[in-house]
Amino acid sequence: MLELIDITKGYGVEGAHEYVPVLKRLSFKLSAGESVAVLGPSGCGKSTLLNIIGALDKPSNGHVNFMGQDLATLDEPALSHIRNQEIGFVFQMHHLLPHLTVRENLLVPTLAYPDKKRNALLKKRAEELIERIGIPQCIDRRPGELSGGQRQRAAVARALINSPRLLLADEPTGSLDHETALSVMNLLIDLNLAENTALIVVTHAADLARRFEKVYTLCDGKLALGNNPGKNR
Ligand SMILES: Nc1ncnc2c1ncn2[C@@H]1O[C@H](COP(=O)(O)OP(=O)(O)OP(=O)(O)O)[C@@H](O)[C@H]1O
Ligand SMILES: [Mg+2]
Repeated sequence: MLELIDITKGYGVEGAHEYVPVLKRLSFKLSAGESVAVLGPSGCGKSTLLNIIGALDKPSNGHVNFMGQDLATLDEPALSHIRNQEIGFVFQMHHLLPHLTVRENLLVPTLAYPDKKRNALLKKRAEELIERIGIPQCIDRRPGELSGGQRQRAAVARALINSPRLLLADEPTGSLDHETALSVMNLLIDLNLAENTALIVVTHAADLARRFEKVYTLCDGKLALGNNPGKNR
């Protein structure tokens, strides 16, 4: 469903003194329904990689093929359709809208499609997801009235509202205690199995990463299978 071919990405003007190279001819394949974890030290380019996969940023070179289409050939409306309907995001910062309740935050991605029947179904799904993620008591509260972990879970639920084919999660358990982190990871894996949602989850926790089908480490601008790429060199 997803293929990255020779992706290169850096920040700044190539060749200039301040240029920061991040991804270097990185290639990667993900099948439908596959779940992978990505490990790597701070600053190695994990968020940059997720932004490129999720069509939020463009590579300097290389191709991203998603569900049979080269993202570089798509115009902005086609890209927003993919971001809204096919891909779910859980950002490193939760990005919940502060003036909306948890329920309303979940339903934001539905606003672009004023289809009454569909929206009624999505309202029901929002309630089910919030129940499933273990924060039913928070459904009508605003993000400011939640703990960090509850916000993180609300952000996971929001990313799942449109039943995406691919969920990208950038340290979804970063601010959680171990037990809550485990329950959020379990929820992601349950959803992966129940709805065949492909998962790419960035985490710093190697023990949580082991719950995924594959573990990659981002190192020197490339993805390597396994959680200790330096070991076999
Ligand atoms: N907009 C930007 N302009 C310039 N440099 C950037 C920009 N965004 C990221 N960088 C740099 O690119 C590198 C990769 O950043 P990125 O956010 O992808 O790292 P990361 O692996 O997600 O780190 P962390 O684990 O701390 O979240 C870092 O050196 C960072 O300073
Ligand atoms: Mg990051």
